[in-house]
Amino acid sequence: MKFYSLTVSKIERFNADSLAISLTIPDALRSIFCFEPGQYITFSHSVEGEEIRRSYSIASTPSDEIITVGVKEVANGMFSSYANRALKEGDVLKVAAPEGGFVLDKQAGSILAIGAGSGITPLLSIIKVALSDNPDVKVGLIYGNQSARSMMFKNSIEELSENFGNRFFAIHAFSREQGGDYFGRIDRGVILHALKNSLAGIGVPDKAYLCGPEAMIHLAKDTLLDQGVAAEHILFELFVASEDAKEINVKGLASVSVLLDGENHEIQVPKEELLLDSLLEQGIDAPYSCQGGSCSSCICKVTEGSAEMVRNQVLTDHEIASGFVLSCQAKITSKAIAVDFDNV
Ligand code: FES
Repeated sequence: MKFYSLTVSKIERFNADSLAISLTIPDALRSIFCFEPGQYITFSHSVEGEEIRRSYSIASTPSDEIITVGVKEVANGMFSSYANRALKEGDVLKVAAPEGGFVLDKQAGSILAIGAGSGITPLLSIIKVALSDNPDVKVGLIYGNQSARSMMFKNSIEELSENFGNRFFAIHAFSREQGGDYFGRIDRGVILHALKNSLAGIGVPDKAYLCGPEAMIHLAKDTLLDQGVAAEHILFELFVASEDAKEINVKGLASVSVLLDGENHEIQVPKEELLLDSLLEQGIDAPYSCQGGSCSSCICKVTEGSAEMVRNQVLTDHEIASGFVLSCQAKITSKAIAVDFDNV
C-alpha cells in the first residue's frame, strides 16, 4: 500500500473531542486522490516506533480542492487522540489513496441517509454531491447524537438545509437532551415516524446509506427492508465490526501463492494465523487499514484452494461465493492456496 505525504491545511474543531482535518492535494497527486463521494482514506502513523493505520471517511466533495475528514476521539484511539490533541495546521500526514464501495449512486432519485456520531462524515459528501449534481433528487437525513453540542459538521448540515430546503430534510435525534426532532437513539420507531412525517416526501428511497455503530446499522437495515427497500439498495459503512468471531479450527502449514502488485510470492504460513498477519510478518506489503473486518482495504480473491473468514460484516454472499475474502479475517482451510490482491 503506497502512502503519500499530504499537508494539513486546516483544522476545524467541532467540540472537545471531534474535529475536521483538511489536507492539501498537490497538483501532481490530483489523479491519485480523486475520489467518489462516500469513500475513505487511510492514514499511516507511527506510535512509539510501531506503524498504525486508520481509515477515515471523506466529508468533502470531489470538486473541492482539498480532502476533508472528520475525526472523533475514541477511548485509547492512537490516531484519533493524536489528531485531536497534537496535530497542527502545517503538519504532514502519510495518506493512502481513497477507496471503498460505499459510494453515491448518481441515478438515485430519492436518498435516505441514516448516521450516528462521526457516521455523518461519508454521508455528508454523498448528500452534498447528490443535491448539487441532480436538481430532482430528494434527500432525507436522520442523524443521531448525544446532544446538539456533540454533533460534527453541524454548520455544513445547516447550510445544506438553507440552500436545498425544498429537497433536503434533516432530522435530529438526541439521546441525552431534548431539543432535537426525537429524544433517544435512532431506533425503528424514530425511522418509521420520520418516514411517515417529515421525510414523507422521500417515499420509499431508491437508495439508503447507513453509517454508524453496528447495532444502529442492523436495526435501520431491518426497518428499511420491512418498508420495501430492496437489500441491494441499502448500503452501509461500519465503524467497528462485531466482536463475535467464528471459531475455525485449522492447524499445520499451508503453501500460499500471493499475487500482489504484479509480483508472485510463494510462502508457507501457519493455518491458525490470520492470513494478513502472516503476510505482513513475512514482509509482504499487503494492503490493510482497520485490521478489524470493517473497511475492506485488505480484500483479496482466492483463486485456488479455500479460506474462511472468522468475521465478516462487509462482503456480500455473492462476493464470498465469487472467492473474495477479507485477508485480515481469513484463515486458510486447504493445504495450498493462491490469493490475488491485484484483480479485486
Ligand atoms: S483491514 Fe479493514 S477489513 Fe481487513
